This record gives sequence, C-alpha cells and structure tokens, in this order.
Amino acid sequence: MRKIVIAIDGYSSCGKSTTAKAVAAELGYAYIDTGAMYRAVTLYLLEHSIRFDDLPRIEQALHEMHITFKRNRKTGRNELCLDGAIREDEIRQMRISNLVSEVSGIPAVRHAMVRQQQRMGRKRGVVMDGRDIGTTVFPDAEVKVFMTADVLTRALRRQEELAVKGEQVPVEDIVDNLSKRDHLDSTRLESPLRRAPDAVLLDTTHMMIDEQVDFVLERVSARLFSLAAAGWEQRATQ
Ligand code: DC
Repeated sequence: MRKIVIAIDGYSSCGKSTTAKAVAAELGYAYIDTGAMYRAVTLYLLEHSIRFDDLPRIEQALHEMHITFKRNRKTGRNELCLDGAIREDEIRQMRISNLVSEVSGIPAVRHAMVRQQQRMGRKRGVVMDGRDIGTTVFPDAEVKVFMTADVLTRALRRQEELAVKGEQVPVEDIVDNLSKRDHLDSTRLESPLRRAPDAVLLDTTHMMIDEQVDFVLERVSARLFSLAAAGWEQRATQ
C-alpha cells in the first residue's frame, strides 16, 4: 500500500508524541520526535559551554554533533542519541525545556534540523511531530493535524510525566514554561508554530489518548482511500 507522511504539529504538551507514536505503531510507520532533536542541540550547546549568540561556534557545533534515534528493543521506543549515547532522560529535564525554544529559534539550528528531518522522511511512511512539520518540513504531507489543549490541562499532564521520572515541579512553573514556549515558538521569525491551512484541528482538552489516536487514524484511512480513488480515476481515463 502507498506510504504517506503524517505531520502532527501543535502546542507544547498536548499529547502530540503519545498520539504520533501510537499512530506510527498501528500503521507500521517510523515515528520521529523532532522536538527531541532541538532538545539534543540545546543539551550539546550547554555541555560544550557554547553561548546561544555565538553563531560561528553554533554552526561548527551543528557539523560536529550527531543526532540519531535508536530503537529500544525492550520498550519498542525510539530513543534519542547524541554522539552515540542515549540521552532521553537529560533532554526531557526542565533545565532543557526552559532553554530549548531559544535554541530552536536560531535559524542555523532550524536549517540543519529541517534538512535532517527531510532526509529521514524522504521514503515516506513516517509520522513526525513538531511545530513546523506541516508548514516547512513536509508541506506536502498527505495528513496534517494541528493539536491544541487548555494550558492547565497540558501542565498537569506534563507534571505527571516529570513525576514518573522523579522530577517534582510545581504546576505554576510548568504553566509558565509552556506559555513562554508557546509564545516564543509562535512568534519566532523562522518557521513559527502555526496551523497549516490544510491541517485539521484537534483539541485534546477533554479527550483520552485512544480517542486522539482514532481521530488521526480515521483521517489517514480517509486520505488513503481518496488517494487510491484518484489513482483509479486517473487509470480509468487513460
Ligand atoms: O515537542 P517538544 O516540547 O519536545 O519540543 C521542544 C521545543 O523544540 C519546542 O518548545 C519548540 C521546538 N521545536 C521546534 O521549534 N520545531 C519542531 N519541529 C519541534 C520542536
């Protein structure tokens, strides 16, 4: 069957990655968490004491660092590797969340990540989540979803995720972080977060994960059906 690109964009912590991961598993597609890549760049810059305004050094660093994903056989999850080492836990910490939107606003960083993401999805058969997938990385994605949810609901969900990993953070700090990131992500000059005109809106405030996954899978089925029908029509008129 024809393989397509599914772009899932939206605000921070509204369930994009959980939904995208489940959709990818259901379809047998690859899942790419592009936020993890920006988080990895942030971690690299911090660990190498590179200032966020030192553009020549950042450009050099982008050539030096190796960002890849490795499948964990036990959990089935794709884990982010920076220079060959799994760094999943570190990139999710609040110290990275507090700085990542600044780093992801740097044009050189965006260009390098977008190029790598386009390479990763060139054979299609991918579900990619992020902020600019349907607008910049794959403007030709066959299915585009734009996710949103009430900020307090998102903060409570993120608080629970952090607690599971042993990080206790007051909900007000998370609301503050999410609001700042949403603002920076939506107002940056280079590929800002915005809904592509052809993206379907999904508000997850009152939804369970299964409902979100079903919503996307229904869109995928409908799109695959219309692509197949267009192919049949084309063949019939030839
Ligand atoms: O999805 P996330 O919260 O892990 O993403 C971390 C940050 O990376 C987010 O605040 C904005 C940035 N990002 C981006 O600018 N473009 C993407 N495609 C994905 C994430």
